[in-house]
Amino acid sequence: MFQSYEQIFSKRADAYQKAMELYPEARQREFQLALERAGMNAAEVVCDAPSGGGYLRAYLPSDTRRYLAVETAPDFTGHCPLGERDSIIHSPLDNIAIEDNSVDVCINLAGSHHLEDKSRFFREATRILKPGGRLLLADAEKGTRVDRFLNEFVGRYNSMGHEGIFLDESTAAEITACGLEVHSDELIDITWTFETRDDSGIFCKLLFGIDLASPADVLAGTEEILGYMPGPGKVNLAWNLRYIVAIKS
Ligand SMILES: C[S@@+](CC[C@H](N)C(=O)[O-])C[C@H]1O[C@@H](n2cnc3c(N)ncnc32)[C@H](O)[C@@H]1O
Repeated sequence: MFQSYEQIFSKRADAYQKAMELYPEARQREFQLALERAGMNAAEVVCDAPSGGGYLRAYLPSDTRRYLAVETAPDFTGHCPLGERDSIIHSPLDNIAIEDNSVDVCINLAGSHHLEDKSRFFREATRILKPGGRLLLADAEKGTRVDRFLNEFVGRYNSMGHEGIFLDESTAAEITACGLEVHSDELIDITWTFETRDDSGIFCKLLFGIDLASPADVLAGTEEILGYMPGPGKVNLAWNLRYIVAIKS
């Protein structure tokens, strides 16, 4: 039976963290692209919501003023790599303990498909952003192979299920209605990189908490639904996300 994502992630956090520790560079391009799109400047305050284990921190410029990791599932944040002025904030995404107009860049990477009403997060992002601040939203798009992989394959072989509410044709208008101006909006093919195909199967099994399928079956699922393509690594698992940048005027 499908449980709430808060319940699921309090159980899934350890395996997710293990996947990210075993293969720290697999999602490198996904994180780099988020920061490139957000157009980082010197000495900015970055809010990462939801942060998971704070994986984005490793990709931030060294002169970042402050990294604020906002996470709903405390089990995730035990290994968060923090600098002196950084903080972890345990809170829901629609009521974040951060002052109004205080953040330069708010990043939500792969975290909005858990939100039934994304407007509540968009309004909160608008509140905490400084004028001129940017929201970078990146998540799976409805109807893509990533949607199919997560909601069909993971939904079937994760005993807790997966029912992501992915981005769709209403997302840009929803962001605009919450007080931000959409600056760019693009579905982008990226790859997750590995040494071997087996590694990609192990990574997906851990990252998505796929407990009802063997590593070989997970690999067969990724091969059939996602596929592999040329890229920077030896093995490049095809993934895609919609990256949206919206600015507060
Ligand atoms: C796929 S992870 C993404 C984490 C991180 N941004 C990354 O890219 O690895 C999804 C995140 O959503 C959080 N989450 C789960 N349920 C949620 C909910 N109902 N509201 C907000 N965040 C939730 C999880 O705790 C987790 O951090």
